[in-house]
Amino acid sequence: MLSAEQIQIVKSTVPLLESAGVAITEHFYKRMFKANPELMNIFNMSNQVNGKQQFALFSAVASYAKHIDNLGALGAMVERVAHKHASFMIEPAHYDIVGHHLIGTLKELAPQEFTEPVAEAWTQAYNMLAGILIGREQHLYQDKSQAKGGWRGARRFVVSEKTAESELVSSFVLTPEDGGAVVDYQPGQYLGIKVKPDHADYVEIRQYSLSDQANGRSYRISVKREELPQAGVVSNYLHDQIQVGDSIEVMPPGGDFYLKSLTQPTVLISAGVGQTPMMAMLETLASKQSSTPIWYLHACENPAQHSFDQRIQELKENHSTLHNHTWYNQPQLNHPFNGLMQLADIADELPLQTGQFYLCGPTGFMKFAKDQLLAMDVKPESIHYEVFGPHSDF
Ligand SMILES: Cc1cc2nc3c(=O)[nH]c(=O)nc-3n(C[C@H](O)[C@H](O)[C@H](O)COP(=O)(O)OP(=O)(O)OC[C@H]3O[C@@H](n4cnc5c(N)ncnc54)[C@H](O)[C@@H]3O)c2cc1C
Ligand code: HEM
Repeated sequence: MLSAEQIQIVKSTVPLLESAGVAITEHFYKRMFKANPELMNIFNMSNQVNGKQQFALFSAVASYAKHIDNLGALGAMVERVAHKHASFMIEPAHYDIVGHHLIGTLKELAPQEFTEPVAEAWTQAYNMLAGILIGREQHLYQDKSQAKGGWRGARRFVVSEKTAESELVSSFVLTPEDGGAVVDYQPGQYLGIKVKPDHADYVEIRQYSLSDQANGRSYRISVKREELPQAGVVSNYLHDQIQVGDSIEVMPPGGDFYLKSLTQPTVLISAGVGQTPMMAMLETLASKQSSTPIWYLHACENPAQHSFDQRIQELKENHSTLHNHTWYNQPQLNHPFNGLMQLADIADELPLQTGQFYLCGPTGFMKFAKDQLLAMDVKPESIHYEVFGPHSDF
């Protein structure tokens, strides 16, 4: 347990951590991967190159230290990180390794400030945060392993269907190799998948949102081929190498982004491959045959890159309460909405005061859409979003 004095010590050194920047995070990861190279099979090494994950971990630690006397303020962060960690199968022993290198890094890079009592206070603080995350993660593991069709860790699934949805996106239906059932999920949640492409140096784990409603037998994910600035390791492996009949390992579904209500007006807003969680939500709502009004607003480059359009048109035929508009960035003749998604053009029809709004796409797009919603007086708590990478606020 941290003493009042230790809490003060931790809080007083937060600015140091916040201002440390990339030098400290780089040092930490280098130190850790040198001593524990097996962790390179867990961390996404592409995210290491672009620095996103490095920032995420340190900003979480700093923000925790800032709120150490009011941990309630961190509930949402704990929930998001615990789900993400669970999709990587992070276990308690990993926390000892991370904690050891975190404190070691601070001592090495700021020996003047990180005296023994400061390091001791930080160790206690880290252990407290680790304890909270470990507790939540073990709970998630237990829930998923005890539920019908559930399991813990990695389970082998066979690709039973592979379908091109558009120029860049293909769907993969995954069926358990053991022939058993699969645990249900909330529409919007994702799977962790684990593969070892021949040309990759490490085992790679990635998250993919489930793109269909739960059916108890199989899962569907839909993957965009990432090409820029260089070919993404896993997405290209799935597109080029993985065929029907091949198997991959899958961690149970999870995630803190999901449909909050089956009855409230629902507005789904996506760009590009951000369609995937929206399709799970849309299919789930449509299958309930309810009169809940739904808007599906989507932005993409052009019709060739527009996935699931045909399916959405089919759903519309049977659901008079489903409204759907698409913005093509490359202007199309006789198409009502071209260019950027301007929500003001359809503001009259949107449930601005009563709806729940779900966003998914590049963070620049989500900020653009969110700012427009806020300007139209949508309540911030009615706006939910998913980032397809290490989380960032905008
Ligand atoms: C919750 C969640 C849900 C997701 N759902 C989906 C989904 O439904 N569909 C989907 O397609 N994706 C989804 N993603 C994204 C997915 O997990 C992967 O991040 C994505 O497929 C890219 O993985 P990759 O291995 O192909 O690319 P990576 O190899 O991880 O590369 C990622 C990016 O970094 C760039 N990069 C790689 N190496 C370097 C380098 N040396 N220098 C500079 N840049 C580099 C690549 O060009 C690429 O743009 C989701 C992510 C999360 C977190
Ligand atoms: C108290 C300790 C920890 C904190 C505060 C923490 C915090 C975070 C945060 C904020 C993220 C980003 C989550 C998101 O995308 O929304 C993250 C991701 C991640 N964490 Fe942790 N983490 C901790 C411990 C660990 C440990 C022990 C491991 C395993 C060795 C680990 C492995 C990962 C991995 C693999 C990711 C995803 C990285 C990626 O997408 O590239 N973390 N963590």
